[in-house]
Amino acid sequence: MNQQNNCDVLIIGSGAAGLTLALHLAKNADVVILSKGPLNEGSTYYAQGGIAAVFDENDSIEDHISDTLIAGSGLCDESAVRYTAESAKACLDWLIEQGVNFDKEDDPQGQAKYHLTREGGHSHRRILHAADATGKVIQTTLSERVKQHSRIRIFERYNAIDLICDNIDAKSTDAKKANGKKQCIGAYIWNRNTEKVESIYAQKTILATGGASKVYQYTSNPDVASGDGIAMAWRAGCRVANMEFNQFHPTCLFHPDAGTFLLTEALRGEGAKLRRPDGSRFMPAFDERAELAPRDIVARAIDFEMKRLGVDCMYLDISHKPADFIKQHFPTIYRRTKDLGIDITKQPMPIVPAAHYTCGGVMIDQHGRTDVHQLYAIGEMSYTGLHGANRLASNSLLECLVYARAAALEISGSLTHSNSFITLPPWDESRVTDSDEEVVIQHNWHELRLFMWDYVGIVRTTKRLERALHRVELLQQEIQDYYQNFKVSNNLLELRNLVQVAELIIHCALKRKESRGLHYTLDFPDTLPDAKPTILTSKLSSNKSLVPKVDDSVEQ
Ligand code: FAD
Ligand code: SIN
Repeated sequence: MNQQNNCDVLIIGSGAAGLTLALHLAKNADVVILSKGPLNEGSTYYAQGGIAAVFDENDSIEDHISDTLIAGSGLCDESAVRYTAESAKACLDWLIEQGVNFDKEDDPQGQAKYHLTREGGHSHRRILHAADATGKVIQTTLSERVKQHSRIRIFERYNAIDLICDNIDAKSTDAKKANGKKQCIGAYIWNRNTEKVESIYAQKTILATGGASKVYQYTSNPDVASGDGIAMAWRAGCRVANMEFNQFHPTCLFHPDAGTFLLTEALRGEGAKLRRPDGSRFMPAFDERAELAPRDIVARAIDFEMKRLGVDCMYLDISHKPADFIKQHFPTIYRRTKDLGIDITKQPMPIVPAAHYTCGGVMIDQHGRTDVHQLYAIGEMSYTGLHGANRLASNSLLECLVYARAAALEISGSLTHSNSFITLPPWDESRVTDSDEEVVIQHNWHELRLFMWDYVGIVRTTKRLERALHRVELLQQEIQDYYQNFKVSNNLLELRNLVQVAELIIHCALKRKESRGLHYTLDFPDTLPDAKPTILTSKLSSNKSLVPKVDDSVEQ
């Protein structure tokens, strides 16, 4: 019999979205936060540029909305965009109250005000930041706050495996609210310290597991970004949308010892130029906004030039700015590149694009609710309609804060205050043994990420997508067999989720018979007059195998 834990609210994920929600809820509820690795490990910690919000009197919410809509290439949900832009200031004020110190500067009258930087696609300086380590400051500040809270328990080094759902009694009020569907009552979780599977009952379960960019060979994301929440929600019967829109950040450092290291867009915001190996600029030939065009355009231009010239990288150059300015605004990047032998005050940085952000995800409403009763999703793994076909820089951390707050309001108003817990069905390990062929997992990991990079990357074709689909279907079968026969491990759990997410991405990409925003295919280079989200509905054919069915008719 596995151990059962109980709480009012289970939050799976400890990034900006999960921690913000926990802090909003802990006045009224006993909260458990689950984190796959150490509490601080997630994309939030590595965010560099900052958070978009209107703080400058010459800027306006209408301009923030309009910039977001333009970047989203006709596919944003306008109500989600308006809601986010209008909520931004209050959410940032809350973050500042928690102790996050954004950089300030003196205005001409000698008054301190927030220093706002600029990024691609923004018509104004609009980005609050803490030098070039904004995410680290946010993550560590929120972590300290949750650690101090008596009603928050932190389960570190726990992988959520799957959600536990049951059918709602058709006659109950819950059934009416939930439209006769299933409800989530908790999750199976793998304790990495004891290597045992436990379960956890919760009245409300919130997925805040971040994105899925690790599905690609080259990514700016940390290892935990394996799309677990999207795969879990899909297996539980939630719809997902717009998974074809994978954002590739134009400028990741290209160096054998750099691992995944981002070079923030704020560098270009502060004047850095993109150059070919011979030193010439190329962005003005692609877009009148040059280096400050939206990311999809810049990433494609770099990819095009690299392929045209047959070279391994392009270059990002800020060496024309004063050395003191560079060191003050970009201390992390200055130190990191210096350690690798590149002095960015004197020479350009070698760069390549890398998978950075998952624009699509689990469909939610304005309160964070998914299709499964008592199950919510927030942060990068969710699809709110804010980003459309391409996310505007620095709107992501903002979305985490805005929807965490919205979900907190909804959840606080619908929690019941009773101490009764449901006994969960035990995890059955009676037929599994220790893995005898770890090499299968390793091999499949590499194969999956490589063909996703080669066939489902920045430039796509139908033939490449079909090839990728064929391979992903074979892998699905192999990994499913492996999962049923062997004990779980981190690599196996992540691989099972990644292959599921890869399949969703490919299905969405095949459905879109046009090029729009981040989805660019040589077979359909034009943009259709009508912009529609791609929505996939999961058909629960059995508890184990889920067949994606593309639902053309449904729109947000
Ligand atoms: P994350 O911060 O990724 O947290 C996910 C959490 O889920 C982690 O705690 C992880 O352990 C946990 N988790 C995952 N799976 C499981 C599981 N199965 N069981 C238990 N726990 C699990 N956006 C901006 O707006 N501005 C920026 O300047 C910016 N810069 C960026 C720079 C980099 C290098 C990267 C990678 C991203 C950047 N982004 C930026 C994007 C932004 O950081 C992310 O979209 C955002 O932080 C996501 O927050 P989140 O809370 O949804 O997820
Ligand atoms: C960056 O700093 O370039 C990343 C900003 C973002 O992803 O929003």
